[in-house]
This record gives sequence, structure tokens and C-alpha cells, in this order.
Amino acid sequence: MKHQSIMVIDFGGQYNQLIARRVRDLKVYAEVVSYTKALEKIEENRPDGIIFTGGPNSVYKEDSPAADMKLYDLGIPILGICYGAQMMAHQLGGTVETAKVSEYGRTMVHVKDAASLLMHDVSENNIAWMSHTDYISKVPEGFKVTASTDNCPVAAMENEDKCFYAVQFHPEVTHSVEGQKILSNFVFRVCGCLGDWKMDSFVESSIEAIREKVGNGRALCALSGGVDSSVAAVLMSKAIGKQLTCVFVDQGLLRKDEGDEVEAVFGPDGPYDVNFVRVNVQQRFYDKLKGVTEPEQKRKIIGEEFIRVFEEEAKKIGAVDYLVQGTIYPDVIESGLGKSATIKSHHNVGGLPDHVDFKEIIEPLRMLFKDEVRQVGRELGIPEYLVSRQPFPGPGLGIRIIGEVTEEKVKIVQEADAIYREEIAKAGLDKGLGQYFAALTNMRSVGVMGDFRTYDYAIALRAVNTSDFMTADAAQIPWEVLSKVTNRIVNEVKGVNRVLYDCTSKPPGTIELE
Ligand code: XMP
Repeated sequence: MKHQSIMVIDFGGQYNQLIARRVRDLKVYAEVVSYTKALEKIEENRPDGIIFTGGPNSVYKEDSPAADMKLYDLGIPILGICYGAQMMAHQLGGTVETAKVSEYGRTMVHVKDAASLLMHDVSENNIAWMSHTDYISKVPEGFKVTASTDNCPVAAMENEDKCFYAVQFHPEVTHSVEGQKILSNFVFRVCGCLGDWKMDSFVESSIEAIREKVGNGRALCALSGGVDSSVAAVLMSKAIGKQLTCVFVDQGLLRKDEGDEVEAVFGPDGPYDVNFVRVNVQQRFYDKLKGVTEPEQKRKIIGEEFIRVFEEEAKKIGAVDYLVQGTIYPDVIESGLGKSATIKSHHNVGGLPDHVDFKEIIEPLRMLFKDEVRQVGRELGIPEYLVSRQPFPGPGLGIRIIGEVTEEKVKIVQEADAIYREEIAKAGLDKGLGQYFAALTNMRSVGVMGDFRTYDYAIALRAVNTSDFMTADAAQIPWEVLSKVTNRIVNEVKGVNRVLYDCTSKPPGTIELE
């Protein structure tokens, strides 16, 4: 790392990546590293500041994660957050105890020392987010208290001479109203960062790191055409060019023209110098799905068949050294969560593969959030229509056709969906919606067209507002837009005589219909 940076040391808290992200929002590079590898990484990279994260343990218990004491001797400013604050107090000779009153959620913090660099320009009374049962009852020698709450005598402490700062609350969450100001005070006023880091620096250093890692080796990327795998593929291609092979499986369940769009970007006529393999296996998937109506069974068939095709193609290519995946940070969080009920078996290219012969997995976007991935995509010059794409599920239109999937039904839903997306974009609504698409209900109903009776399918239109896709509200699409889309679909898409709008939120519905 040649640019200025902050190293976030992970002690098991929930918001660790969020801290790094908030620092990157300040245009200072930040990354998260486990406390077990922190010293080594810090000596190697010499960051400008260190942040200790929160964590679920009690510092006074044996076996609780602890920072290497050498970190305090490096002359690098440190900010401890929650567990990180308590650990700093404990390690440097203060006292941490179980609090009589735990603090959870919004809490009023009183700033005691307006001259503190960390509290610069922070309101005397400000709302911050607390989540702790232990508290610092005595600060270490050389430290002073700079903020408190009604129940917590040490909401913030510091040793200005050594540049050690600590806050009991979580400045990284948006509920801490002046949290970003506090992080910015640490990064700029304490650590002296300039804030000149940009996503192109991330691109540059990633390319360098990939080149170093891959050397003369070969890499294989399962490309879905979605934002994450596309950005990962382009980043890899810039780094290692023809040493990369992208395999794109067109399983006949993509949106209208999507296969050709992906090929135009990554194929031989596109701007990138990669080996691109498009596998056209539409009929193979339709055959496999023939007569199958149960949603979970459909998902499993599509997921498994995808892996089979990918393996066959990988075998043709021969042994590769690296498998590239477009995993991004929210995927890491989701897969890291404990056991919860399976609502749907998700399948995406990130779930690949047990049997492909490779040495190691490369996940260049692993620490980024979706909007950061889009920024990287723009830096890399990927066309906007690919970069700003809404999420599309791994099983594709297979789960947007209720009941049996046939080629005819795929065509119908592709056409209806293309019209819907076109009109939503024309109305300027596309950027504001979480996800929107057309699905084919398996329902047929009677209609009348040109004095003739029809007995055709009903299309369901869905649009949701959501921030995390875990919960969602049905979006209120203006009636004129719905009415225009309906009119076009029934007139232009053969086999459809009725259009319905799905008003269900999630829960109780899910975003996709299956
Ligand atoms: P649901 O329908 O579960 O969808 O409310 C939540 C989000 O996940 C997407 N989704 C998937 N994505 N593989 C994926 O990569 C899948 O199998 C899958 N199923 C649903 C869905 O489009 C929505 O964004």
C-alpha cells in the first residue's frame, strides 16, 4: 500500500466492515484485518492510523481477543471503539467492569472537553449509538475523560501525547448523529490523512496485488453478467489479460438480449483482452425443467445443472491455478450468519464448485459494498447499463415463471419484462427502485380481443423499495406508468391478456415469486 491508509483491527464486532467503509467514504483507504494478523500486516503496510473494533467478549476474561502490546509502541495513532476502547483501557492499566446499567441504542453523550481533537466541533450533547454491558470504570494513567453519558462515566477518553483515543459508543453507525464527524476528526486531525484516495487507487493496487499473486498462472471466472462477477472479471482481465478465461453459461433463463449484451462486452469483439467462453445450453435446461413445478426443486435443478456445465467447460480448459469469484461484503455477512430457516435455496456463481481443479480462490471485491463495487466498475470503464444493473437471481427467469418452465413461457416473460423495464426507465423511476421485474403467473384467464375470446396468461409486475433485500415494501408506481406498461404488454406480447400488480411487502411475500 503506497497511499495513506487506516487499518481496522477486527475483534469480532458486527460493524467492522462498516467502519472501514465509513473511512473510505472520507477518501482514505481502509481495510479490515483480524487481530491475529494485525501486527504483521501493520509492520508491512505502515498505516497512518489504527482502529480497534467492537466485539462480543469481556476484556477481563481469559482467552478474550487482545491486541499485541507492540501495537502501542509503533507511534501510530489508535482509536478504540466499544470493546476496542475497553481493551485499550484494560491493557494500558485502567479498569473495566460489568456495568450496573447496560446501555443499548440511542444514548445522549455529553462532551466534557471541547479542546479534544477527536471531539472537535462535536455538539456538547449529541446522540450516539451504544451497545455495551461492560464499562471503563478507571482510565489508564496519562488518559483523560473527554465524554460521558448519564450511566457511563467514560464514553470517551484519550491520551493526546500518545495519540490514543477511545469511544464507548459506535461512531460508524448512522444512528450516531455526529459519528462521521468523530471518525473524520480521527482520520484527518489525529492521523493527518489528506483524503486524496479514490476508487482508482483501489483499482490500481488490486491490479498490482493480483499480478503478484497470479504470476504466470491461469485463472477461471464464472461470469453471470451481473454487476459483481462482471466487475471482478474486468479487474482480473486488466491485471492478467489472456491468462484469464471467463465462462458464461447461457442457460436460457436470462433477461431479453442479456446473453448477447454480455458477449458484446466480454466476447472477442469487446474491449477486454480475455478468453471468453459462452456456453449455449438453453435446451439442456428446458429439458431438465420439463414437468417440474415445485419451486425448490426447480432451484436445485438449475443450480446443479449450472455447476455440471461449468465443470465440463473447466475440464476442457484444463487445470487452472485460481478460481475468481465476485463475492462482495454482504455475501460474506450473509454466509457468516448462524443457522436460520431456509426460505429459498439461493444459488449464484459464488456457490461454485466442489470439483473444479484449482489451487486457490481469488475474491477481489470481498471487502466492498455494492455501491462501492459499482464505483469500481465505473473506474474500470464498464458500460453504465451493466454497472447500474439491478440484482438478478442466479436461477434467473426460472423463478419468475410460476410452475413449469417452458421456452414459450421464457419468451413471454422476457418480452413483458423488457417493456416494463423500458417504461420504468423512460419515466425516470429506475434509479429509485430496489428491484423491479415482470413475472409470469401460471394463471390463465378469459379475455376479449378484437371481438374474439382469449384464454391467455396473466403477467405480474413487481417493484420494491428496499435497502438490504431482507425486507421490502411494494413500490407505488404511478398509475399512468402501470397503465402504459399494461397496454403495451397486452398488445405486444403474444399469449398475455391480463396484467396484475403485486402489492405485497416482504414479509409476508418474498421479492421473487418463487
Ligand atoms: P427473495 O425472493 O428471497 O429475494 O426475497 C431477495 C433478493 O435475492 C435475490 N435472489 C437470489 N439471488 N440467487 C441469487 O443470486 C438466488 O437463488 C436468489 N433468489 C433470490 C432476489 O432477486 C432479491 O434481490
